Amino acid sequence: MTTTLVTGATGYLGRHLVAELHRRGHTVRAVVRNRSRAEQPGKRESPSLAGLVDEWAIGQLGDESFVADAVSGVSSVVSALGVTTQKADPWDIDYRANLAVLEAAQRNRVDSFCFVNVIGGDRCTAELTKAKTAFALALSGSSISSLIINPPGYFSDMMQVFDMAKRGRVYLFDPERRINPIHGADLAAACVDRLESGEQGNWDIGGPDVFTWRQLAECAFTALEKKPRLTRIPPAALTPIQAIASLVTPRRADTLRFVTWGMLNDSVGEPVGTHHLAEFFAEQANTLSTDRW
Ligand SMILES: NC(=O)c1ccc[n+]([C@@H]2O[C@H](COP(=O)([O-])OP(=O)(O)OC[C@H]3O[C@@H](n4cnc5c(N)ncnc54)[C@H](OP(=O)(O)O)[C@@H]3O)[C@@H](O)[C@H]2O)c1
Repeated sequence: MTTTLVTGATGYLGRHLVAELHRRGHTVRAVVRNRSRAEQPGKRESPSLAGLVDEWAIGQLGDESFVADAVSGVSSVVSALGVTTQKADPWDIDYRANLAVLEAAQRNRVDSFCFVNVIGGDRCTAELTKAKTAFALALSGSSISSLIINPPGYFSDMMQVFDMAKRGRVYLFDPERRINPIHGADLAAACVDRLESGEQGNWDIGGPDVFTWRQLAECAFTALEKKPRLTRIPPAALTPIQAIASLVTPRRADTLRFVTWGMLNDSVGEPVGTHHLAEFFAEQANTLSTDRW
């Protein structure tokens, strides 16, 4: 079997990717900053990497010789690397760190490179999505067989709606916009299917159920057995909020721009997978009631 390098292996999606590649018999080389953290369970029930990794590449992607060693001898790369809650500039990670891996992969004549981007990211003005779009362009223009997967929000991120529902009220910008959030295991399976098929291309991929944001919020209230309470924030209110946030904390303001863009635009990919958000929310609600006892 071939050796597949996974970057971003310790993240929500990266852990599911490692588990899926391992399950299908790939030799998995995982890039991590800290092995003991990687061997703990990840966020929102994403798996521990203990026993799933054949070769550990432990280091910093900003280090050229580390990147060269990490890429040496692999036949494909899967990147779930990107800044979400980490304190870093997306241009350093989503663009430059991915580019360093791509350049090393080209020198090593790696067969294929699968990059997890964001659905509609090329239309969003956040620096985060600009950095990802710039990398996707570099990848598709490279000599390597490129696979670019564009998902909407993951189940892990839908917990922000669940948490608002838990506090009693969900705030939405445009309740009628649509999204089909996807579980990390389903997205990982879709990525590995395409990698193994030998195709190259660019795919929008989401989960099996399409919701409006109103329905998604109601789904969280149902799981929590609470009466739905929704408040619509007029999109015009965003401009002053974003302007103030940019002065105080530019990185968070950029994340806010990305998140709100996703809530003001339909984000629906080809539906795949078997995990349903209603069941995921029900499990989260069950965990809450078990914890209470
Ligand atoms: N979450 C969503 O709803 C969503 C939706 C669409 C697309 N995406 C994209 O999908 C990818 C994976 O998302 P995710 O939710 O799985 O993210 P995540 O849980 O935050 O994982 C991100 C991964 O990137 C690594 N990383 C981040 N900053 C780093 C840095 N400065 N140096 C080295 N490594 C760094 C993290 O390493 P550490 O664990 O060491 O921090 C982690 O392995 C990202 O590119 C994201 O933009 C996410």
